[in-house]
Amino acid sequence: MLEILRAAIRAGGPLTLAAFMELALYHPERGYYARTAERSGRAGDFFTSVDVGPLFGELLAVQFEEMRHILHAATARTEFDLVEVAAGNGRLSRDVLDAAEQHHSYLYQAARLSLVERSGPAREAQRSVIGRHGRKLSRSSPDLPSSVHGVIFANELLDAMPAHAVVMRAGRLRELYITEQDDRLVETEGDPSTPALAEHFARVDVVLDDGARAEVSLAAIDWIRTAARALDAGFLLLIDYGHDAKGLYSPLHAAGTLMAYRRHTASGTGWLDRPGEMDLTTHVDLSAVRLAAEAAGLTTLGLVDQTYFLSALDLAERLESGHDRAALARRLAAKTLVVPGGLGSTMKVAVFARGVGAPRLKGLAGGRLT
Ligand SMILES: C[S@@+](CC[C@H](N)C(=O)[O-])C[C@H]1O[C@@H](n2cnc3c(N)ncnc32)[C@H](O)[C@@H]1O
Repeated sequence: MLEILRAAIRAGGPLTLAAFMELALYHPERGYYARTAERSGRAGDFFTSVDVGPLFGELLAVQFEEMRHILHAATARTEFDLVEVAAGNGRLSRDVLDAAEQHHSYLYQAARLSLVERSGPAREAQRSVIGRHGRKLSRSSPDLPSSVHGVIFANELLDAMPAHAVVMRAGRLRELYITEQDDRLVETEGDPSTPALAEHFARVDVVLDDGARAEVSLAAIDWIRTAARALDAGFLLLIDYGHDAKGLYSPLHAAGTLMAYRRHTASGTGWLDRPGEMDLTTHVDLSAVRLAAEAAGLTTLGLVDQTYFLSALDLAERLESGHDRAALARRLAAKTLVVPGGLGSTMKVAVFARGVGAPRLKGLAGGRLT
């Protein structure tokens, strides 16, 4: 990977952070995600809500069943596309289908699953992970389908997308680049690679403090536009590390939010030393996501902490009260998913809709509309 990056720098000059992330994470042969089917979990580098166990998918199935019901009432069509993006090897969709098969027969019957994932090895593993639900899997691809009637959903997609890094210097927006110096990769500053960065801050009405560093994922905003176009009718549900623009670009995050994960150790520095061996993430600008979704004709239904969202989906009723191993494990999983301060408050749930009006969804009932 180091050789690939050096060759790219020698050929085209310093790389933006977005170009660096694109190569380090997604280069077709050497990229971090391209080399293996699963990166998270105990044996991997980081944990997601999917790693906590089947409860997360079980709770999402409750929300999807309500969405199916609403969409059916609005359009009289019976099929319901479940389009998971950043699907990895398909574990979350399997958990959703397991729960639908057991508890939501209409959802299970109507479900037409589409898995969208950039990583080749992850896609190859999907059919065996989906197992007995194989006939529900209609499509597995690196790209979104062009026409969706149902829900497009993703856990930790936008925070894994390439982002530009900027810094404010004496009232001027500068961009951070990666270049080579004495055989090492180092950061350097230059003029912004695109006017879209300044336009981004103008759109969300934020001026960075002097010296503040920040990341902007133009790729994430582009993806929202593409997903909104693909959604004929139904819902877009995204779960990601994120904040509204005023929070994301506040003094609390004056050093930016770029983090590198390796073997469950997170670091805001050192990410240049082992490219291709670490996960790289940045927090998502949810104000920009919302503006892009609304500009593309979607209605914002809500933006809430994962704690509120999952708790509102009958979480308490789903936890058995016994003291056997299984009951204890489920209660522990619930705690990991919702306890404030952990995944529950760092992860935000954003839901948008098209063609169904502005229903008050079950998962959004307990939270605030940001
Ligand atoms: C942090 S992992 C999350 C995986 C899984 N959703 C979970 O929660 O465990 C991010 C995943 O997004 C995939 N990804 C990134 N950009 C993508 C895109 N534009 N379309 C589809 N998948 C993408 C990566 O390959 C990787 O598998």
